[in-house]
Amino acid sequence: MLREEARWFQQQIAALDPTRVYPMLDIGSSTKAVRTLEQPWIETSLFKPARDKGYTVKHVDIKDAPGVDIVGDVSDVSFLHSLSSEGFRSVLCTNVLYCFTNREAVCRGLVELLPIGGYLFVSCPYRYPLIPEPLDTNYRPNTAELAKIFPNTKVLATTTVRAQLSFASKCRRLRRYFANSRYQRLKFAIRMLLPFYRPREWLQTITDFSWALKTWKVSCVVLQRYEPTQQGKKITSIYGERDAVPTAEVAAR
Ligand SMILES: C[S@@+](CC[C@H](N)C(=O)[O-])C[C@H]1O[C@@H](n2cnc3c(N)ncnc32)[C@H](O)[C@@H]1O
Repeated sequence: MLREEARWFQQQIAALDPTRVYPMLDIGSSTKAVRTLEQPWIETSLFKPARDKGYTVKHVDIKDAPGVDIVGDVSDVSFLHSLSSEGFRSVLCTNVLYCFTNREAVCRGLVELLPIGGYLFVSCPYRYPLIPEPLDTNYRPNTAELAKIFPNTKVLATTTVRAQLSFASKCRRLRRYFANSRYQRLKFAIRMLLPFYRPREWLQTITDFSWALKTWKVSCVVLQRYEPTQQGKKITSIYGERDAVPTAEVAAR
């Protein structure tokens, strides 16, 4: 997560009634080491202020590692369904949707694990290089496209964050994405000297690394769950069909 992105979400969350934001579910949270050491602004901007006030945040990731409270595959909608009884009031889902080939189902599942009025804080790379690990589907939505993929939600706020990254720091990130080990870096250096061997592949590598010269951007949205509430109308859900809640009842909640 970019520093600027964490700051924007921090401001959005601070403007809301915390009793309606927590407990929060952090989807694709990564590990404690990433949140506190590699990108410490995630912890200081987003989680420490909440925990200091006694609010609960649960971190979910497919990796079984320190700092992950619930290990599971978010792309498995039955796993998401199993979280719906936990009473979460908001979902933080940052920089992970690009990993899913079934993102429509995942987004619907994320909405449906919240109560009416629950919040979703979502971000996704917009102008950003490919992130090879674990899987990048090259999903790069603008804010409108990102908001649209979450059914039965209204948009509360959007922004496109521009990364304030220096050339050197973009190179470091690209190196981490594409040439993490010494061996890979040596291979890369040799490969750059051979443009006529598999020229397409060579050109792709140049394109990947040309990101060091561009501005990286991330789409961020804050959404709130509502439900189409015509009495008697059936709502189709990933969990099957159920009756719509009458408008008056929703308003009373
Ligand atoms: C780029 S990191 C994002 C970390 C953090 N949310 C942020 O914004 O910096 C993506 C995370 O999503 C996790 N992830 C990828 N696919 C997943 C899946 N199917 N279920 C759960 N977590 C997944 C990865 O393990 C990784 O920790």
